[in-house]
Amino acid sequence: MTTEANTPVAFTPERLAKANEIIARYPAGKQKSALLPLLHLLQEQEGWTSPEGMDYVAGLLQIQPIEVYEVASFYTMYHLDPVGKHVIEYCRTGPCCLMGGEDVYAHLKQRLGIEAGQTTPDGLFTIKEVECLAACGMGPVFQIREQYYMHLTNERVDEIIAELSK
Ligand code: FES
Repeated sequence: MTTEANTPVAFTPERLAKANEIIARYPAGKQKSALLPLLHLLQEQEGWTSPEGMDYVAGLLQIQPIEVYEVASFYTMYHLDPVGKHVIEYCRTGPCCLMGGEDVYAHLKQRLGIEAGQTTPDGLFTIKEVECLAACGMGPVFQIREQYYMHLTNERVDEIIAELSK
C-alpha cells in the first residue's frame, strides 16, 4: 500500500526495532551509515520514499533532512513519488538498446498506455527508466523488485504484464 503525501510517518514497532538494531551496528556518531537500509525499511512500509518519511528517518538518525534527500535522490531504487504495485525499472543504457531494447520499450509503454514516470490508472504498473542493471549480456532487461526479466521481446512483455495483472 502506498501512503499519501503529507501523511505523518512513523515505523511500526517491528520496523522501529529493526531500525534500531541496524543503527546499533555502527559506532556512536556514525549512525548515518544506517541510512540506506533505513530508507529500504521506509519504502517497504510506505510503498515509496516520501518527504515525510525521509524527515522521520533523519530524526531517527539525528541528521539533517537534506542529508537524507541527497542520498535518496541519488539512487533510482528509492521511489520519490508514489508508485504502482509493480514498478518496472527499464534499462535504458546502450547495450540493452543495441539488443532491441528501444523497440521493446516502445511496446511496453504502448501496451500499458503510460510513459516513464507514470502509473497506470488501475495503480498496477509504474514505468521507471534506469541505467545499466548489470545484465548487459542478457538484454533487453527490466527489473521488478528483486526479479530480473531478461531477453525481453514484445511477446514476453505481454506475457509478463498478463501474469502480473491477475
Ligand atoms: Fe542493460 Fe547493462 S545495458 S543491463
